[in-house]
Amino acid sequence: MRKTIAITKGDGIGPEVIDEGLKILKLISNYTDNEFIFKEAPAGGAIWKEKGESLPKKSFETIKSSDALLFGAIGLPGLPQGVAEFAIFKIRQDLDLYVNLRPIKLYDALRDRCPLKEEFIGNGINITFVRENTEGLYKNIGYLKDDEAQNIMPYTRKGCERIIKYAFDYATNNNYSKITSVDKANLLKTSQLWRNIFHEIAQDYPLLKIEDIYIDAFCQWLIRTPYMYEIVVTENMFGDIISDEGAFLIGSLGMASSGNIHPGKVSMYEPIHGSAPDIAGKGIANPIGTILSVKLMMQESFDQTTIGNEIEKSVEDALLEGRTVDIKHPNLKILSTKEMGDLISEKLKILLKK
Ligand code: NAI
Ligand code: MG
Repeated sequence: MRKTIAITKGDGIGPEVIDEGLKILKLISNYTDNEFIFKEAPAGGAIWKEKGESLPKKSFETIKSSDALLFGAIGLPGLPQGVAEFAIFKIRQDLDLYVNLRPIKLYDALRDRCPLKEEFIGNGINITFVRENTEGLYKNIGYLKDDEAQNIMPYTRKGCERIIKYAFDYATNNNYSKITSVDKANLLKTSQLWRNIFHEIAQDYPLLKIEDIYIDAFCQWLIRTPYMYEIVVTENMFGDIISDEGAFLIGSLGMASSGNIHPGKVSMYEPIHGSAPDIAGKGIANPIGTILSVKLMMQESFDQTTIGNEIEKSVEDALLEGRTVDIKHPNLKILSTKEMGDLISEKLKILLKK
């Protein structure tokens, strides 16, 4: 299978972590039937300083004509507000990437890095957030005028149906047993529409347990009984906030991966962290969020679930031997970004060769 992958390294630690993601992709290209062709699509603060555009037309054309996009992170200190955000917003909106998929899994090796007490971790944290990614407040429709400001939160039946259906299918295809819908239906009209549609669609999936919960209550239970949740589907802004809260439960922001997906079309995979200017250039960033984003790309865009699982297994094995400084362990070697990527690659090479 031949696929073209656009690569946006971005700013700060973006290029450092993307190099490790590329290492994994090249390994897969070398050792399996997959052949990957890489095309650079520069975006972000550095290219804006050079060309006055944070997403040059040529880069966007490259992305649109590729099969998937691996994206680092963008943003530089001192950049005017909105410059970097514009690039991400344009990619999400113009490619209609309506699914934001964010798995949050606490690996056994990192239990001691979880900020929760052992009793609240229970039998483990393994939650997949499915966030609506194109409608609601983040459409950014509104105004700021003198002492008054307004944003509207538009939702459509089509927009709710497609994301909720995706979540049910994801749960079914990955053998989950329960799906939780997070809303604020006691107050918001948009949530009332959402909740009605959630229950309509649930009728087609009688084997899944379903649950509704208000956003404020969910924020409380997420840190008290995180082991209760499997698939969590929600609208755009709620999803932004709770998936970031979730990401803190797995040991480091550097561990969390994500996909911005339109099934069957070009989709974007990225670690959830930003460009981390405080550690850029030091070679200490954790590349695992990026490597797990490659896992998501294999699984969601290329239908290569086995390879995806092998990537994850390699990460788990590597965590038992060495760690970047953000997840350091007193008995294990501290590794640089590159060394962490090398260790995971070694593990993966063994699995791919089998
Ligand atoms: P950030 O995620 O870049 O950093 C937050 C903290 O986490 C920092 O202390 C950083 O050192 C640490 N961290 C982040 N990734 C890490 C990794 N892989 N390994 C180890 N430690 C890591 O968020 P911040 O500081 O709020 O934003 C910095 C810049 O990134 C801003 O310009 C912001 O706009 C941009 N940003 C870009 C995103 C994107 O491209 N999708 C997402 C979030 C922020
Ligand atoms: Mg966020």
